[in-house]
Amino acid sequence: MKIGILGTGNIGKTLALKLAAAGHDVKAANSRGPDTIDPSVLANGARAVTAADAVKDVDAVILTMPLASLRDVAPLISPLPAETVVIDTSNYYPHRDGTIEAIEAGEAESVWASRLLGRPIAKAWNCIGTSSFASKGQPAGSPGRIALPVSADRDADRKVAMALVEDTGFDAFDAGSLAASWRQQPGAPAYCTDLTLNELPAALAAAERHRLPKRRELTLAIMAERFGGIVTNADSDYRVRLARAIYM
Ligand SMILES: NC(=O)c1ccc[n+]([C@@H]2O[C@H](COP(=O)([O-])OP(=O)(O)OC[C@H]3O[C@@H](n4cnc5c(N)ncnc54)[C@H](OP(=O)(O)O)[C@@H]3O)[C@@H](O)[C@H]2O)c1
Repeated sequence: MKIGILGTGNIGKTLALKLAAAGHDVKAANSRGPDTIDPSVLANGARAVTAADAVKDVDAVILTMPLASLRDVAPLISPLPAETVVIDTSNYYPHRDGTIEAIEAGEAESVWASRLLGRPIAKAWNCIGTSSFASKGQPAGSPGRIALPVSADRDADRKVAMALVEDTGFDAFDAGSLAASWRQQPGAPAYCTDLTLNELPAALAAAERHRLPKRRELTLAIMAERFGGIVTNADSDYRVRLARAIYM
């Protein structure tokens, strides 16, 4: 499959490595231009391109940048052919993204993103921490393989996103519509808790919407106390222990 990835940070780098290793034709872009992309992102064959080139002539586009930055790429994404599958990994963090009133009022983050981009999207890979994502993928059928929820409104988007999640080393679980995807947002029991396919459905069902923002902010406060600031690539075991203690 031909894939364009916008964002080469914590999550984008691992996506570029894993999807290229799985045999996909991968282009990767950041906000500053191809020359600034670290060669380690390209180690498995992904090519560094501009953002405009990344979304040209591809079957799927993966957006993996701060939620608020989706505003910058909306002009590139909105005109894409209807059949292009757009998958978003983003989460809403007000300290980084600024206050987004619609989300504060209860709109699911992926619904906000889909409205902004003016097209259907899938939401995937948003609820596994950087370190777990880079180090804990396993072949299908491995005991204890971590499962990740995938939400989408179109079956074609869901099918492609689930197949690509599997290609990155994780069981894909159909979590339903974008409107229901608040169950995989920061603060929810499924968020960064590294659950298996047996455990994930109950965790999604147990989410309590009104508790999510408070639990998200509590986690940030504890990480800031421990690391002296908010970090996005904390050690996997620490992050999972913290998430399980607060979210589950
Ligand atoms: N960190 C995690 O554990 C984690 C886990 C799951 C999901 N997420 C979510 O996934 C998203 C990415 O997280 P991350 O930790 O990978 O972020 P990150 O390390 O900060 O990387 C963000 C990337 O997005 C790029 N970018 C920003 N604006 C852009 C634009 N207009 N066009 C193209 N590229 C653009 C940046 O480009 P430059 O390199 O040029 O700055 C950078 O490469 C966030 O929404 C985050 O909440 C994060």
